[in-house]
Amino acid sequence: MTRKVVKIEKPEGKLGILIPGMGAVATTFIAGVEAVRRGLAAPIGSLTQMGTVRLGKRTEKKTPLIKDFVPLAGLDDLVFAGWDVFRDSAYEAAMKAGVVDRTLLASLKDFLEDIRPMPAVFEKKFVKNLSGPNVKKGKTKMDLAEQVMEDIRRFKRDAGVSRTVMIWCGSTEAFLEIADVHRSLAAFEKGLRSNHPAIAPSMIYAYAALKLGIPFANGAPNLTVDVPALLDLALKNEVPVCGKDFKTGQTLMKTIIAPGLKARLLGVRGWFSTNILGNRDGEVLDDPASFRTKEESKLSALEYIFQPELYPQLYQDLYHKVRINYYPPRGDNKEGWDNLDIFGWLGYPMQIKIDFLCRDSILAAPLVLDLVLFTDLAQRCPEMARKGIQEWLSFYFKSPMCAPSLYPEHDLFIQLMKLKNTLRYLRGEEMITHLGLEYYD
Ligand SMILES: NC(=O)c1ccc[n+]([C@@H]2O[C@H](COP(=O)([O-])OP(=O)(O)OC[C@H]3O[C@@H](n4cnc5c(N)ncnc54)[C@H](O)[C@@H]3O)[C@@H](O)[C@H]2O)c1
Repeated sequence: MTRKVVKIEKPEGKLGILIPGMGAVATTFIAGVEAVRRGLAAPIGSLTQMGTVRLGKRTEKKTPLIKDFVPLAGLDDLVFAGWDVFRDSAYEAAMKAGVVDRTLLASLKDFLEDIRPMPAVFEKKFVKNLSGPNVKKGKTKMDLAEQVMEDIRRFKRDAGVSRTVMIWCGSTEAFLEIADVHRSLAAFEKGLRSNHPAIAPSMIYAYAALKLGIPFANGAPNLTVDVPALLDLALKNEVPVCGKDFKTGQTLMKTIIAPGLKARLLGVRGWFSTNILGNRDGEVLDDPASFRTKEESKLSALEYIFQPELYPQLYQDLYHKVRINYYPPRGDNKEGWDNLDIFGWLGYPMQIKIDFLCRDSILAAPLVLDLVLFTDLAQRCPEMARKGIQEWLSFYFKSPMCAPSLYPEHDLFIQLMKLKNTLRYLRGEEMITHLGLEYYD
């Protein structure tokens, strides 16, 4: 140990996970955690459960598991609650989503059946291809926010949890641009009282969470907490926030491959990405307004990774196109095709084709687990909570939130280094620089 250890409270008591949107991702996450707790499956894909962190020099051979290195809540201490526009229990919703094997779900039925969604804050205008009966009524958006706060207080009391975190796993909302109502907390609260049309349901949940000092992570590309009003509230109440949009299938592949092409200074003329998926997420994204939100999120990664302003010969004319097609027969098993037109030495053209036959929610569920555990860690660490935006969690997102003066970091490997260095920093360990000259002295 070389530096001071940062103060982090111990994770005592139960951790409540509050989830607006109990669909495919949320139920795959909840069923998965319970299956792991019962010893029926392994938490594959989760950095908090399976990842290690190297400490000190390579010769020291010290690589503890992350969960032994930082004080994270244990899986046995997690308790789940959520909201949805449908009344289905987590068991019924998981059966309908069709992601987790029915036999495994049947063995978890007793547990999943008891998780029933609370009535949602919902406005059809923001998710056109969806309607359901389990929706709150309120005169104003402020009334709805207060109802959500009351739901949370009741859950905390009934479940006996000592801390909570909220993670948005709801549908992608229609595209919104930052408007005056989002620019200050005072304007936002006035907007809540006057039912301002540019306040989306996800913002109402986020506001309720931040008011109660509950960390908020956003798994979808909606603006939600990424507006000055809610960021001010996060700073004022010293609450961690992060987002947006889980980095799972195609964008995960993009942010793995693009840094490699750039590292070798290979040029890219075109990158065409298309997806077919048939789950409810695909249906929601069939609406152009929801697709626009997703498209913005999916397009941004390459621009930042390739830095065309620094490498105009290689990336200035890159044609990048993303398509999502709703195709019911595939369900949650998405197929993401990528065609890359690249060029090398003397400008000779080449092509790369990627066909990723993935399972969307299987890729997303471990991210939900890591995010709830890490945002809870950040909340117990005053130095981190005080910063509001948790940029070290960029690793998990397609559109990582960062300070207004910065550009987001998209390269998966830089993101992982940043995350692990943050953990080293919290525990008073040296940062790893990969210089390594000392091994040759
Ligand atoms: N699976 C992935 O790999 C992945 C990756 C990135 C982002 N996402 C995003 O995660 C979110 C969830 O994905 P999914 O596959 O579980 O979708 P899903 O359609 O199965 O689940 C979303 C649920 O949210 C509910 N919902 C919508 N609006 C709500 C509201 N205002 N309040 C409460 N509930 C609401 C819906 O009824 C639905 O049950 C989507 O926004 C998706 O775009 C998923």
